[in-house]
Amino acid sequence: MSNLIYEAVNWNKPTSDLAQVFWDQQWKQIWFPEEIAVSKDVKQWQNFEQQETYKKVFAGLTLLDTVQTNIGMNQIATHTTDLQEKAVLTVFGSFEAIHAKSYSYIFTTLCTNSEIDELFEWVKKNEFLQYKANKISDIYNRIEEGNSESLWKAMYASVMLESFLFYSGFFYPLYLGGQGILRNSAEVISLILRDESIHGVAVGFFAQNLFKQFSQETQDELKVWGYELLLDLYQNEMSYTDDVYAETGLSPEVKAYIRFNANKALMNVGFDAMFPEEEVNPIVMNGIRNEGSTYDFFSQKGSSYAKAKVAPITDDTFQFNR
Ligand SMILES: [Fe+2]
Ligand SMILES: [Fe+2]
Repeated sequence: MSNLIYEAVNWNKPTSDLAQVFWDQQWKQIWFPEEIAVSKDVKQWQNFEQQETYKKVFAGLTLLDTVQTNIGMNQIATHTTDLQEKAVLTVFGSFEAIHAKSYSYIFTTLCTNSEIDELFEWVKKNEFLQYKANKISDIYNRIEEGNSESLWKAMYASVMLESFLFYSGFFYPLYLGGQGILRNSAEVISLILRDESIHGVAVGFFAQNLFKQFSQETQDELKVWGYELLLDLYQNEMSYTDDVYAETGLSPEVKAYIRFNANKALMNVGFDAMFPEEEVNPIVMNGIRNEGSTYDFFSQKGSSYAKAKVAPITDDTFQFNR
């Protein structure tokens, strides 16, 4: 039997700058897909021409949320030493499980069983989808005990997944929902997006705290590694978009949205944006109207508010859906 000293999580005093804030905000946002009346979309769905694209977009998102539940948040929580941050990451993991399950709720409402089976087979066969799942999961699985650079890399990869890679998928329901098409399914997506915004900011913030502790040389190396990873994922994302959106003619607009979110992901980890500013489809930028999805959770004044303000995150970081 081992003879280690186990420490109990003590929330009576803060050990982490913002763990309590992220915790509170995530729980305040709790939701379940069954609360949204996706069945109201059934009628529109029957006449909707781009069903294949829509289904694939959601199936792709299911895979990312599955990876994030089973590998991402688990691995990062396991290797994070601060017990309050560990707890926050574990809670985030539970929300990932809700996200992954919510697509099934949409499928079961709109699709037949054989369509659903085909779709989950497609996930296993789509090379671009498998490429990103592999790329990110490898980094998650390579965290070494006591090696904070490998933990930082996993956090960086997590922010890439949540603040960047999800958006090739989010585009379509937001684009349609904003025009009153399949609006209830889009509502589910906007709730997922609201969670991902916190996750991207929180994990990015934890990553920035780790990064500060590295030597200049290590920081430079990690920066090169980080931009290379982003570019690699970006190339793949372009091909994925061409593949999935082929029938819709929307690829160029999806790609602009992807670049916009890649910049946001970089800012979440404290890096400079790399793509030039460009116009993103205003329907998607506005999202669907959803009370509570555009609020700023740091508008609740307090000591944590001040701390967040000195952190290198931008003013619109918490403007969800924008
Ligand atoms: Fe998620
Ligand atoms: Fe997430």
